[in-house]
Amino acid sequence: MRLYWSPVELASRLVKKGIKYNFASGSPDPTLLPINEIRKSFENVFENYGISVIAYPGAGGLKELRIEVSRYVRRMLNIDASWRDIIITAGAQHAIKLLSQLLMRRGTIVYVEDPTFVETIAPMRFQGAKLIGVPIDEYGMNTQELERLVKDNGPGIVYTVPNCHNPTGVSLSYDRRKHLLEISERYDLRIIEDDPYTALYPNTESPLRSINDDVIYVGTLSKVLGPGLRIGFVIVSGRLRDDLEKIEQHDFATSTLTQYLVYDLLRRGVANKVVERARDLYPRKLRELIESLNEYLPGSLMFKPSCGFYAFINTRVNAWDLLRRSVNQGVAFVPGGRFFVNSRRENTARLSIGAISIDSIRDGIKILGDIVKSS
Ligand SMILES: Cc1ncc(COP(=O)(O)O)c(C=O)c1O
Repeated sequence: MRLYWSPVELASRLVKKGIKYNFASGSPDPTLLPINEIRKSFENVFENYGISVIAYPGAGGLKELRIEVSRYVRRMLNIDASWRDIIITAGAQHAIKLLSQLLMRRGTIVYVEDPTFVETIAPMRFQGAKLIGVPIDEYGMNTQELERLVKDNGPGIVYTVPNCHNPTGVSLSYDRRKHLLEISERYDLRIIEDDPYTALYPNTESPLRSINDDVIYVGTLSKVLGPGLRIGFVIVSGRLRDDLEKIEQHDFATSTLTQYLVYDLLRRGVANKVVERARDLYPRKLRELIESLNEYLPGSLMFKPSCGFYAFINTRVNAWDLLRRSVNQGVAFVPGGRFFVNSRRENTARLSIGAISIDSIRDGIKILGDIVKSS
């Protein structure tokens, strides 16, 4: 099994060299991150819990945090789940790695949107899973096509980002949601729903897990409280929940200290306040990106994004070549080729509004547009 650097990681390294227009990073907007509240929570947890904050973490996660997460998902995402069914992980990526280790073996079939998020499918590939790309359009994964593929290839797992998809920004339509849940029952498909962005936008559809308890839900606080905290979670019940708790013992990767910290932040309502501000800022940023693309790179958008951090564009030229040139003018993005499962398209790119300031979006896209036109 060969291991590759993620294109997100490679592009991020370029960004560290003083890039002004950072469309590469999937990090949240730095002006939203509650750094002072985090400092305060540090003091609170040392004061209140002393030495316990540096003890070994218990399997499944800190009970107090699990309870707070169950409140958070009820309030933000309409998901009703007992704290027992919430397993804390070191971010969504860790959650997906653990689920891959539990559920996937050589030849396990995994249906994914094509393109999909390159970093979460890496551990599935590492397990030897056979990834089958399902086309995606502005209504999300094409579930008719999924059904056809399932008839040909047999049952398996569906890994999906139904809301605010990474890298295309689209969300699954109501009809397709219904259809996906129907066929998952009919053909015995297990759904893993990966959902980092729903809470950050107003008026998003509730996650699949809110209407069907069989869906394995992966959530994260990375985009709300900061990705460096590495706190995510899985909502799952029954035997799989027990197994997930057990496999967590293999790495004990979820820091006790940050679990206490995030518990205190949730308890004090800090995440709710961030979400409120996010729901105002991110839709404006995404609109600015779409309008700038329509003006300076007309026709480049391959999907109309509805929410989340990303837009996926046709760059017309090889995106790595374009990146090498655009970096010299202070613009970074992530080339899109590796997001594809079936056949890579190297003339594509993912643009993120996460970390860049709203005031820089237009200028950055104008520069990118000029470089593309002169290519
Ligand atoms: C779809 C998707 N899944 C997972 C992740 C990773 O989240 P975490 O920082 O919690 O590992 C991201 C982050 O960009 C994402 O977009």
